[in-house]
Amino acid sequence: MKSDINNRNDIIILVDTFYNNVQQNNLIGPIFTEVAKVDWSHHLPKMYDFWESILFGKAIYKGNPMLTHFDLQKKANLDKQEFDTWKGIFFKTVDDLFEGENAEMIKQKAKSIADLMHFKLSSISPNINIKSQ
Ligand code: HEM
Repeated sequence: MKSDINNRNDIIILVDTFYNNVQQNNLIGPIFTEVAKVDWSHHLPKMYDFWESILFGKAIYKGNPMLTHFDLQKKANLDKQEFDTWKGIFFKTVDDLFEGENAEMIKQKAKSIADLMHFKLSSISPNINIKSQ
């Protein structure tokens, strides 16, 4: 039986596996590796802090994810398909590794943040996907 996400070490396992899976995805992998050219040694510890703050209420993450993604939106079109893919990989990674209250909670939080982020990004670039009539 799988265990729940209980501590920072579990978050590290989740985040590392998630971004490994993300890099293998044809739609959103290249956004990280080719568009943003992410420095993983910098990004991953930030994401450990982010999720530890969200899940365990520890205020260790300092940053502004909205600003980062607004910036990214100028170079990559983050829309429904990209966010659905992100959420699908996140949920599957959680379910592959863990089960329990915190596992359910982190998926719920990820979904809320992703949906809000998508909404805010689409509101600054409303015509990016309008098809010509
Ligand atoms: C299609 C969806 C998404 C894509 C393509 C994406 C991509 C990225 C990229 C390229 C970075 C910058 C990494 C770097 O250069 O260091 C980043 C940062 C980040 N992302 Fe996302 N992201 C997505 C969705 C999300 C969602 C849904 C969340 C939260 C639930 C999230 C949380 C973060 C955080 C916390 C950072 C670090 C911000 C900072 O402090 O600089 N991302 N993301």
